[in-house]
Amino acid sequence: MRFPEVRARRLRKSKEIREMVRETRLCVKDFVYPLFVKEGIHMPVDVESMPGVQQLPLKDLVKQAKKAYSSGIPAVILFGIPSHKDEMGTEAYSEKGIIAQAIKAVKDAVPELVVIADACFCEYTSHGHCGVVDKEGRLLNEPTRELLKKEAYVYAEAGADVIAPSGMIDGMVSAIREALDGEGYEDVAIMSYSAKYASSFYGPFRDAAESSPQFGNRKTYQMDIANSREAIKEVMLDIEEGADIVMVKPALPYLDVIKEVSSRFPYIPLAAYNVSGEYAMVKAAGKLGYIDEDAVMMEMLTSIKRAGADIIITYFALDAARLL
Ligand code: PBG
Repeated sequence: MRFPEVRARRLRKSKEIREMVRETRLCVKDFVYPLFVKEGIHMPVDVESMPGVQQLPLKDLVKQAKKAYSSGIPAVILFGIPSHKDEMGTEAYSEKGIIAQAIKAVKDAVPELVVIADACFCEYTSHGHCGVVDKEGRLLNEPTRELLKKEAYVYAEAGADVIAPSGMIDGMVSAIREALDGEGYEDVAIMSYSAKYASSFYGPFRDAAESSPQFGNRKTYQMDIANSREAIKEVMLDIEEGADIVMVKPALPYLDVIKEVSSRFPYIPLAAYNVSGEYAMVKAAGKLGYIDEDAVMMEMLTSIKRAGADIIITYFALDAARLL
C-alpha cells in the first residue's frame, strides 16, 4: 500500500460529494427529439416496435412539438411519411408535401423550437432506397445529389433551421450548401449524418417511417460496421464541404467512434443518434422487468455524452427530460 494511502472512495461517500466530482452532466438541452408525421391519418398510430413512439397527423405533431419545447428540449428532427410514394421520391421535395407542411406548421406554432429537417428519400421512394436508383437497383450519386438540392431548398423555404442529409451520398453537404446559399438561405445550417453505419439497429425506425428497402440493403452507401478510420475520413470531408454539425450513428455500438471523432475534431459540434433499435431494446427489456428502464436509459444517455457527443438525438428525450 502506498503512503498516503490512495482512497478513491472518499469522493463517493455521499450523493452530494459524488455530484460535486461528477464529470459528465446530462442536460435536457443536449437532446433532439425525433418525430414522425404521416399524411392521411387522423389519429396517432402506435409504432409497435417502438413503444411510446407514434406516427402523427399534422395537428398532433404540432402538439408533440409544443410539449417537447415546454419540457425544455431545444430541437426536434422531423421525418415525413407520404401517402404516395414513387420512384423519384417526389413527395420529399414537393412544396405541398407532408414534410414541407409539417416544418411550416411546427415553425408557425413554436417559432423558438429548432426544427431540423431530415433530408433523405427512403420514406418517399417506392423502392425504399435513399435516392435515385438505376435499373440494376444501384443508388446513383449525382442524380440523388441534384434532388437533395431541391429538397434542401424546399425545407429551408418551409422554415427549417437545420437540414440534415442522412443518405450518405458523396458530396451531399457541398451540394446542399450551394443550393441553400444560392437561394439566400446562408443562415440555414447543415447537420450531416457523416458516419452513418449500415446498422441492423434501424429496424424499428423503418417500421415507423415505412422506409424499408424493397430489395437489397444499404451497404453500398452506408458505412461498414467494422470501420472506424473511415469515419474520420467521412467527417473530415463533411467539414471541408461546409457541415456545421457532424454526426455518428448509431450511438451505443459506436461509442469508440464518437470518442475518436470528438477528440480529433473538437472544434465542430458532434451529434450522436441514439437510434430506434437501441431504444426498442431498452423498452422491451424494461417491459419484461429484466432491467430498470429509467436507470438504463440515463446510463446509456450519459455514456453517449461521456464519449464526446454534444448533441444526442433520442426517442428518450421526453422520458429523460422528466427525470432531469
Ligand atoms: C435514413 C434514416 C435512417 C434512420 C434515420 N434516417 C436509417 C435507415 O433506414 O437506413 C434511422 C434512425 C433510427 O433507427 O432511429 N434516411
